[in-house]
Parts: sequence; C-alpha cells; structure tokens
Amino acid sequence: MKNIAYYNGKIDTIENMQIPMLDRAVYFGDGVYDVAYIKDGSVFALDEHIKRFINSCHLIDIIPPMDTEQLENVFYSMLENIDDKSSCILYWQSSRGTAERDHTYPKNVKSNLMAYIKPKSLPDIKKRIKLISSPDLRYELCNVKTINLIPNVMASERAKRAGCDETVLVRNGIVTECSHSNISILKDGKFITAPLDNHILPGIARGHVISLCKELGIPVEERHYDYETLISADEILVTSTTTLCRAAFMLDDREVGGLDSEKVEAIQNAYLSKLG
Ligand code: PDD
Repeated sequence: MKNIAYYNGKIDTIENMQIPMLDRAVYFGDGVYDVAYIKDGSVFALDEHIKRFINSCHLIDIIPPMDTEQLENVFYSMLENIDDKSSCILYWQSSRGTAERDHTYPKNVKSNLMAYIKPKSLPDIKKRIKLISSPDLRYELCNVKTINLIPNVMASERAKRAGCDETVLVRNGIVTECSHSNISILKDGKFITAPLDNHILPGIARGHVISLCKELGIPVEERHYDYETLISADEILVTSTTTLCRAAFMLDDREVGGLDSEKVEAIQNAYLSKLG
C-alpha cells in the first residue's frame, strides 16, 4: 500500500477511512496526537513520542487507548503494509471517545485511536529558512499536544502568505515557540532555549538537539529570552520531528543569524547521523 490508515482496529487507505460523527474529536477537538518520523522501516524515537503521547492523555484526563507495547505493535504492523518505508511519517491521535455532544464527558469512556502512515521526505535541512513573528494567542496548556490547533493553524497560514517557513510566537515580549516547531538560539557559543513549561510543547527534536549540543561541548541554557535577543542572536534554530533542525536567515524581513554557521552545521550533522 502507498499509505495506510487505522481507526479502532479498522484498516484502509487514508482517503477511504471514515470516522464516526460522534467521535469527540469532531465536535470539541477533544483529543491529543503525536507525530514521528520513519526512516528505513524504523520509527525514530518512538519510545519518546509514545511517552509524550501518554503524558498528553493524562494531562487532560483521557484514558490512553493502549499501553506502549500495544501501540508499538499497531504501528509496526501498519508499517509492514507500506511499500516504500524509506522516509515516512507516522501520525496518530486519540480522542476522548465517542459520545453524544456534551461539553462534559462520560466517565471512563473508551478513547479512540486513529493513525496513519504515509511517505514524506525531509526538507533539505541545510537550506536556511524565513520566519515571521506573531503574538502567541494560545492558552495555558501548550505543553499538551492537543489536536485543538486553531491559533497554530492561523499562525502557520500567516507565514505561508508572507512567503515564510514558520511563525515565531511571542507572548508578552517573550519568545515561546513556533506554530509547529520549537525555536532556540545560539549566542556567544551557547545554545539557549525556552524552558519546558505550559507555554511550549516539549519537542522531541528540541530534546535531541539539547543532548547533541552537550555531546558537542556546546553549553546549554534553558531560559526565557525576548524578541530583541532573538533578532540579535548569532543563529536562530527551528526544530521539529519532520524538519529536524534548520537555521533562519530572515525574521520579519530583517536579516538574522549566519554568525555561527560552524556550530549550526555540527549540530545538523550530528542529528543526521543520529537518525542513521
Ligand atoms: N509539530 N511545537 C509545536 C506547537 C508543535 O506542533 C511541534 C511539532 C513542535 C516540535 O515538536 P517535535 O520536535 O516533537 O516534533 C513544537 C508536529 C511536527 C506537527 O504538528 O505536525
């Protein structure tokens, strides 16, 4: 198969799969999700993604649909059906369950599991990207990987319309993350990134880049920084599962970064070799 979709045990293609109208994802976006990258038939960092997914479930009181081993089994048996496993994306989500529309939810309702795998190539991570900034209009639960993504969708579309790759979100002057990536800077030889709190998603790629910096002897500081610090950084790095780690050359129509390309390249090369 070229792609594969799964819904509560049913298998079909992504185009044909249908989900019931009473799935709470449809009305309330009442669910959580995760995304992992598949390289040569192996899901990269699947344990970390599942751990975050189960944590997201717990944070909003959703009973996870399966345990870690069962989820791994579902994903790998889906993967067996894919013709070209060289570079794919695994997406999955769990809604709270299926029930008549009501803001309150039935206790102990069984959560639904939806997943798909489809081919997806990584971008050229050495190509520098363009950013715009926007106020962070999101709420106080950004550490939950919820499917409720309206402010992220609006921010992402703003970037696209401006011919940019990502939108940097700024909350009360402080840089949080991007619409679908984390953001960090290099300044005076140090890697600086926002701390893990309820205003950012604990990105898996962010975590890998932190570990790689430590291995490369680059000091890491997890602390807040403001927009002025961002724009005057030596390098701006944007990270996510599907784009790994890319550096920016433009932010809000101003030239940025490019002052520590050696470290950028070292981090990117280390990431690519970690991926295998
Ligand atoms: N987005 N912050 C937000 C708001 C995100 O949506 C993502 C991921 C990240 C980076 O997380 P990770 O490194 O675990 O991919 C940060 C995914 C790719 C998406 O929604 O498709």
